[in-house]
Amino acid sequence: ISLKAYNSFGIDVKAKFFAEIFNEDDLKALFQNELVHNQKLLIVGGGSNILFTQNYDGLVIKMSIKGIGSSIEVDKVLVTAGAGEVWNDFVNYCVTHGFAGVENLSLIPGTVGASPIQNIGAYGVELKDVFESCTAFEIKTGKLTTFTFADCHFGYRESIFKSELKGQYIITSVTFKLATEAKINTSYGAIEIELEKRGIEKPNIADVSAAVSHIRVSKLPDPSTIGNAGSFFKNPVIEKHEFADVVAKHPDVVHYATTDDKIKLAAGWLIEQCGWKGKVVGQTGTWKNQALVLVNHGSATGTEVFNFSAQIIDSVKSTFGVTLEREVNIL
Ligand code: EPU
Repeated sequence: ISLKAYNSFGIDVKAKFFAEIFNEDDLKALFQNELVHNQKLLIVGGGSNILFTQNYDGLVIKMSIKGIGSSIEVDKVLVTAGAGEVWNDFVNYCVTHGFAGVENLSLIPGTVGASPIQNIGAYGVELKDVFESCTAFEIKTGKLTTFTFADCHFGYRESIFKSELKGQYIITSVTFKLATEAKINTSYGAIEIELEKRGIEKPNIADVSAAVSHIRVSKLPDPSTIGNAGSFFKNPVIEKHEFADVVAKHPDVVHYATTDDKIKLAAGWLIEQCGWKGKVVGQTGTWKNQALVLVNHGSATGTEVFNFSAQIIDSVKSTFGVTLEREVNIL
């Protein structure tokens, strides 16, 4: 089966086996089948954070468990969504019901089940700020386990599912802790500017969601027309003494303080300074409005995109002495 429709980069590779999962029993049944034992496994939601550089010589499992339900408590609401729910449908459900906390995460591509894995984040909010727990299927035992916030070891685009427990669990649903009384977060400059343009002084969550959606659409390419996987690299986090070297040579470097006393640099800025913004190289390149996003202009191969990303890493390293790390999973 071709995986072209199952990865937002639109790379045309094949999988040896493919299964779509609609409920937890499907998962149990799948793993009782001897055919899948000893196969390499790849779990996909929206396929919006992967780059295929070759055919997948194993089993691809597409998660399509649906359903959203909520229970309102005194000062909060718990919302549980199936892993296969499209992330933005879940955000819209919350905004429509007046459940606050995920409006800044509007229009992030992908699914609910994938959201904890790399602790998705945008516009001043990360998944960990609203995460209550998730349920996951343990591949080895076929049992369902609950992971609390503390269990997940969230960090910047990190969690236990990407590190210690990589490849061992399949997330089937996620529960979010949201507020019935909104605490609006417009700390991210771009939101404030957009709301001001719209003449909104006291925004509600629907206003924030609309503003964020507008900013994303104007900056980021729509994967349904131009293949991409969002930010291709992480924003590098460096030590203060390393930052001193960078800023000495490049006083205008865009940076932010982090909670653990390190400095985060804007990778998009670094890449743009090296002259890569909007560059087209063969069938790949960087996006014209956001240099951190690599794109497929039509028929790029994964290897072509990967090699291009290596060129960017080299270039940023030699100009700034900083090593960019890929945020997208390379397969
Ligand atoms: N910048 C440039 N040139 C560029 C791109 C950015 O100079 O080509 C500068 C901007 O002017 C700004 C700074 O870099 O001063 C930050 O840019 P932006 O607000 O676009 O955010 P980002 O740091 O590039 C991160 C996330 C995005 C998320 C946005 C908004 C990562 C790796 N990326 O990007 O997440 O949407 O912030 O909060 O942390 C993703 O992970 O796939 C993703 C899209």
